[in-house]
Amino acid sequence: KFLATAATALALTATAAFAACDDGEIVVKFAHVTNTDKHPKGIAASLLEQRVNDEMNGTMCMEVYPNSTLYNDNKVLEAMLQGDVQLAAPSLSKFEKFTKQFRLFDLPFMFVNIDAVDAFQASDDGQAMLDSMQRRGLQGLAFWHNGMKQMSANTPLENPSDADGLKFRVQSSDVLVAQMEAIGGSPQKMAFSEVYGALQQGVVDGQENTWSNIYGKKFFEVQDGITETNHGIIDYLVVTSVDWLDSLDPEVREQFLTILSEVSEQRNKEAFAVNEAAKASITDAGGIIRQLNPEQRQAWVDAMKPVWDKFSDDVGQDKIDAAQAINA
Ligand code: LMR
Repeated sequence: KFLATAATALALTATAAFAACDDGEIVVKFAHVTNTDKHPKGIAASLLEQRVNDEMNGTMCMEVYPNSTLYNDNKVLEAMLQGDVQLAAPSLSKFEKFTKQFRLFDLPFMFVNIDAVDAFQASDDGQAMLDSMQRRGLQGLAFWHNGMKQMSANTPLENPSDADGLKFRVQSSDVLVAQMEAIGGSPQKMAFSEVYGALQQGVVDGQENTWSNIYGKKFFEVQDGITETNHGIIDYLVVTSVDWLDSLDPEVREQFLTILSEVSEQRNKEAFAVNEAAKASITDAGGIIRQLNPEQRQAWVDAMKPVWDKFSDDVGQDKIDAAQAINA
């Protein structure tokens, strides 16, 4: 009985939250997997929802489903092609079934910071990637930033050899599998929504993620500590289906895309600061953050960078060179 009451209460809350959609409005369901606050993606999604619902009232109505409440990232793209959800912003690591081009962004130590990622994405090479999955029915609309990845485990990680024999959760990317194997780890692909439980129960020993994800999902509470490796990035593609975008009247499409582009520009500038705040919150909550000295950091670079060779044909040596030129 209690469960039934709780379910009814939840259903009522959900209905109340979405009661703003009127008959005749184009309903845009936006499914994502992170928190709504203190997170670059969550904040951007909420701002987009607010602006669409204010400025396109009567025409379009957006409903954001955060925290994997509608789909997790391993299911959302299939659901989009079925027309069950219209917008998502999975990390670039989660598009492997659709394109190998985004593997560039998973290669360890490819970009020095999120500004370099931003500059690459703004280039012709980066912008062309938005259209790279059209044949598969998906249209990229914008890149959204999160930040640099850090390593954590249930044991201190100072040198890459400390990872030897540990089980690591990775996103669904073969590059990340190869990266963890390069440090002697045993990688396991897993949906984001399952990571906390897997760490807590010892199904895996460690993981890699940004400060905002480690704080937002409390991974630091079930890890020995987090090592500030900055060895990779998490960035997102705001994506929809070609069919849905084509179905919109040109003026409606233009207004929607203009709002999205303004929100992307505004929030991408703040992504670094949001992650720095999450990092400070981890320390405030008693989490342990370890720094690497220059020799230790170089050991992580030396252990992980050979992974590039394995994937250079997939991503194109010209793209690797372009990314490196931006870093310089
Ligand atoms: C992850 O799966 O760790 C991240 O992609 C989650 C996210 O959306 O930031």
